[in-house]
Amino acid sequence: MNNPTALITGASRGLGRALAAGLAREGFDLIIDARDAAALDAAAGALRPAGRLVTAISGDVTDPMHRSALVDAAGGRLDLLVNNAGTLGASPLPALADYPVAELRAAFEANVIAPIALTQLALPLLRASGGAVLNITSDAAVEAYAGWGGYGAAKAALEQASNVLAAEELAVRVWWADPGDLRTDMHQAAFPGEDISDRPSPASVVPAFVRLVTERLPSGRYRASHLLPVTS
Ligand SMILES: NC(=O)c1ccc[n+]([C@@H]2O[C@H](COP(=O)([O-])OP(=O)(O)OC[C@H]3O[C@@H](n4cnc5c(N)ncnc54)[C@H](OP(=O)(O)O)[C@@H]3O)[C@@H](O)[C@H]2O)c1
Repeated sequence: MNNPTALITGASRGLGRALAAGLAREGFDLIIDARDAAALDAAAGALRPAGRLVTAISGDVTDPMHRSALVDAAGGRLDLLVNNAGTLGASPLPALADYPVAELRAAFEANVIAPIALTQLALPLLRASGGAVLNITSDAAVEAYAGWGGYGAAKAALEQASNVLAAEELAVRVWWADPGDLRTDMHQAAFPGEDISDRPSPASVVPAFVRLVTERLPSGRYRASHLLPVTS
């Protein structure tokens, strides 16, 4: 493959799908996943008119065999890994005092263990290409919002893993980034029954992430709102 290749997890909807479209416009071939095969195939079909190769592999990022299949699909060239797939955990959001431990463990598995494990598999290709890892985190990783302890603790763990990875992997850029509140299914699950139509669309923050990639900004923590042009 001659085009740069990006592997984006959780790209059937929401931020992952918007990022996939933005990276296709920048000339990336794509490898994308999600658990719901029909939704993933629909997203892949919509992405293909951008003229790029789109490989869709349905599966769960917490499954080691699925993670191997994703990296194998790169076929020897990978320039960017976007660990975007994640889970809110229990909804409605419970206080830590009442958080079901099995759901807490599942949130850490999807939001921390899976992205680290996928990064481990991808690193040889990313070192060879001088590539990059983009881990999607949240302001809940650094702010103490009541009810967000399970999700927030998992995102905080992903942030510190990213921080250490950046110190260890000097040939690879490592970015961990808070996209801000977005109008997505996950956000709706955090605010059940509430009108979230005032939240920005996922597409609105894509230029921020494209900047990270195209300008190859230094490894570190970013907020999408700080990377976007100021509008009056
Ligand atoms: N929306 C916000 O306001 C907001 C704010 C801060 C951070 N974030 C972060 O942004 C990222 C994207 O969130 P979003 O709001 O776009 O969520 P979303 O609309 O719920 O989309 C999540 C995507 O990930 C996939 N996915 C979920 N679990 C998966 C798994 N175990 N294996 C493979 N794919 C999986 C989903 O498809 P399937 O369900 O079919 O698997 C879907 O494609 C997440 O990391 C989230 O924590 C979002």
